[in-house]
Amino acid sequence: MLEKFCVHGGTPLSGTVRVHGSKNAALPILYSVLLTRGRTVLENVPPLRDVTSTLELLSTLGVKWERRPDGALELEVLREDGFEAPYDLVRKMRASIYALGPLLAKRGRARVSRPGGCNIGVRPIDLHLKGMLALGAEIRNEGGYVCAEAPHLTGRRIYLGGASGSTVSGTANVMMAAALARGTTVIEHAACEPEIADLARYLNACGAGIRGAGTPVVAIEGVSELRGCKYRVMPDRIEAGTFMIGAALTAGEVRVEGARFEHLAALIDALESAGACLQIEDDAVQVSSDGDFRPVDVTALPYPGFPTDLQSQITVLLSLANGISVVTEKIYPDRFIHVAELNRLGANVRKEGSLAIIHGVKRLSGAPVMASDLRASACLILAGLVANGMTEINRVYHIDRGYHRIEESLKGLGAQIERVPVEADSALLSLVPDASPELRERLGEYLQIAAAP
Ligand code: EPZ
Repeated sequence: MLEKFCVHGGTPLSGTVRVHGSKNAALPILYSVLLTRGRTVLENVPPLRDVTSTLELLSTLGVKWERRPDGALELEVLREDGFEAPYDLVRKMRASIYALGPLLAKRGRARVSRPGGCNIGVRPIDLHLKGMLALGAEIRNEGGYVCAEAPHLTGRRIYLGGASGSTVSGTANVMMAAALARGTTVIEHAACEPEIADLARYLNACGAGIRGAGTPVVAIEGVSELRGCKYRVMPDRIEAGTFMIGAALTAGEVRVEGARFEHLAALIDALESAGACLQIEDDAVQVSSDGDFRPVDVTALPYPGFPTDLQSQITVLLSLANGISVVTEKIYPDRFIHVAELNRLGANVRKEGSLAIIHGVKRLSGAPVMASDLRASACLILAGLVANGMTEINRVYHIDRGYHRIEESLKGLGAQIERVPVEADSALLSLVPDASPELRERLGEYLQIAAAP
């Protein structure tokens, strides 16, 4: 179903919101189930489209799974004959590259469609391949697929730094593969993101020997077997950060449960520098502001730097500051597609290479806009919450990949936001009443692309 969000701006967010489990922690953990024997029970896996696509792929690889009534996911590998992540699934979700390490380590072979670029940049996988080669795999590129083989993997020292610094998915992939390798692997220049530490905690609970995850040097002592276990996925720091920015932006007062200081220190610093008031608790952060913001310079960097996944959202807040802010993107230099849409709402942001130069304006004013990717959608919703009048955000399917019913969470805080079907789409879909959900979704995507300016 093709849908859009209609947001009436001007209501300060107020109350308490609990964040869901982390998408970017849950995805590699789900793939690492391929390394295990026996049953795994995962709590706090968010019900998102990327999770559904992952489960679809895991099913084709012999994993039986079910969502229990309490929301937990039960998974078990029943067959170990599959070794392919086909283009049709990878095309929908780049994270399918996470199949590479586990399939290679457990099944000796992997055939994974090479992910292409996306709206936020080129997104190479050379470091993933460097890691697998170092562990002893033979790799061929065939018809758009990475084909990797190794009768067994052998631990090594591997330097995983690239031109843009560390890689989150590359570190996770090598960590998963090395968990079942012979001997010890040491990853130098590993990504330090909390999601990497979460994956290591899950793997260690299954019997792996990983030390140092969450720091730049990770040592993985290979073991011969991993047994499934019960594990609770960490809270989503990016969803938490989005609500925290929303609270400050709308001059509201919100307690974000599941927001952890240690995951969000760079955002907390930026919000305080801009003039917001924050109170830190063990498992929550309370944010309030008077809506009067100072300009702040922000640089998106690997963890513990400011997260690139909150770069577009903080840009909204800075576009209402009293002065000029500079936002620098060091991870995805082209991740600025939201800028043109924000300017349609009256912001004054100029992109210069990998910088956004933001001249603060007094107010934003509602208009129809197009979301271009997951976090850009969140940025436009936040802008709608503070703009005068109504903002219509099209292509909401992007946001459903990473935020579970964001409009429900925001409505709980008093926001005036509705998810509404797009009429042209209903008219077209009525011509094919028997269309499968997959066909309806594809038609929706085509229509949105066709409607794009
Ligand atoms: C993860 O992507 C996240 N995705 C992204 O979140 C996030 O933006 C990104 O990390 C950075 O924090 C998932 O966790 C599923 P990287 P990932 O490999 O792992 C370069 C969202 O909105 N690089 O850490 O793919 C790359 O081009 C998403 O939830 C290489 O050069 O990102 C980039 O400049 C979007 N060679 C930098 O490293 C490689 O082999 C960091 O990318 C791999 C990456």
